[in-house]
Amino acid sequence: MARKKIALIGGGQIGGVLAQLIAQKKLGDVVLFDIVEDFPQGKTLDIAEASRVDGTDVVLKGTNTYADITGSDIVIITAGLPRKPGMSRDDLLTTNAKIMKQVAEGVKEHAPNSIVIIISNPLDAMVTLFQKVSGFPTHRVIGQAGVLDSSRFSTFIAWELDVSVRDINAMVLGGHGDTMVPLVRYANVNGVPVMEMLERKYKDAAKAKEVMEAMVSRTKMAGGEVVKLLKTGSAFYSPAASAIAMAEAIIYDENRLLPTCVYLNGEFGVDGYYVGVPAVLGEKGVVRIVELTLDEEEQAAFDKSINAVKTLVADMERLGF
Ligand code: APR
Repeated sequence: MARKKIALIGGGQIGGVLAQLIAQKKLGDVVLFDIVEDFPQGKTLDIAEASRVDGTDVVLKGTNTYADITGSDIVIITAGLPRKPGMSRDDLLTTNAKIMKQVAEGVKEHAPNSIVIIISNPLDAMVTLFQKVSGFPTHRVIGQAGVLDSSRFSTFIAWELDVSVRDINAMVLGGHGDTMVPLVRYANVNGVPVMEMLERKYKDAAKAKEVMEAMVSRTKMAGGEVVKLLKTGSAFYSPAASAIAMAEAIIYDENRLLPTCVYLNGEFGVDGYYVGVPAVLGEKGVVRIVELTLDEEEQAAFDKSINAVKTLVADMERLGF
């Protein structure tokens, strides 16, 4: 099988970890693009010089030229400015929209058949803008948010219940902002409902509810928690790992059901917006969207999240994008 070609647009913190993970997992040859001269060349040289130790033969190239991404199967986009302390995701809108427009034009011209995974924030707006500017079919333009948000939620549950995080199944839907919707009722440990385990642990339903509410709000604020601690940028290991899980589902045609920011065409009662919902990912990108029943409270939270996405997209349009 010919090696895949994976283009990474943005060679900063997340872009660097993506390149290293792709090399170590031998997922494909890497082209790391950034506008800063010499910077992506330096990163790929550094990672390539670990090839002997990593036992990998993938080829890594750093570049400032879009033509080098020609023929890429997958493009992962992190170009943009990360959130600084005290800055909301929405503050980033204008700056990152300008960048995303340039990126979409470059990818459209040089990698028109690629499947695109976007990480840049504000996520829901950036995915919408990329699809609009590139004109790519929506099943080939997806956003990474839910995999990370769900991994964060799962991590907190595993710590609380003192079980392996590998046995936790928990999903977070909605927009990638403070209104995201961790699905408490569906969260389970190899099939055992998390709420039941909490109630047994605390022998008190009210206390169990309180503990779950704390995990839900920590999940919603998890990006900000890391920003506050790092002081010089936002999370980068976990977003990179999450996008790699999506890329693997596509490269290996795994049909994985992952919470993903995808374009909705009436599913979940939403028409014409990119929103985080469960989707099956395979070699064509989004294979299908999986609907599920929400109870009244979950639906209200989901509707609130949809409204936040709609406001974000409307703001971006008002700003001329
Ligand atoms: N084209 C390509 N790359 C660009 C452009 C552009 N027009 N403008 C900026 N970049 C590059 C920067 O030079 C930088 O190297 O994007 C890179 C972003 O890297 P970091 O600043 O290190 O940010 P990172 O932590 O990787 O996060 C990237 O992902 O999670 C989101 O909020 C985060 O939007 C941010 C993005």
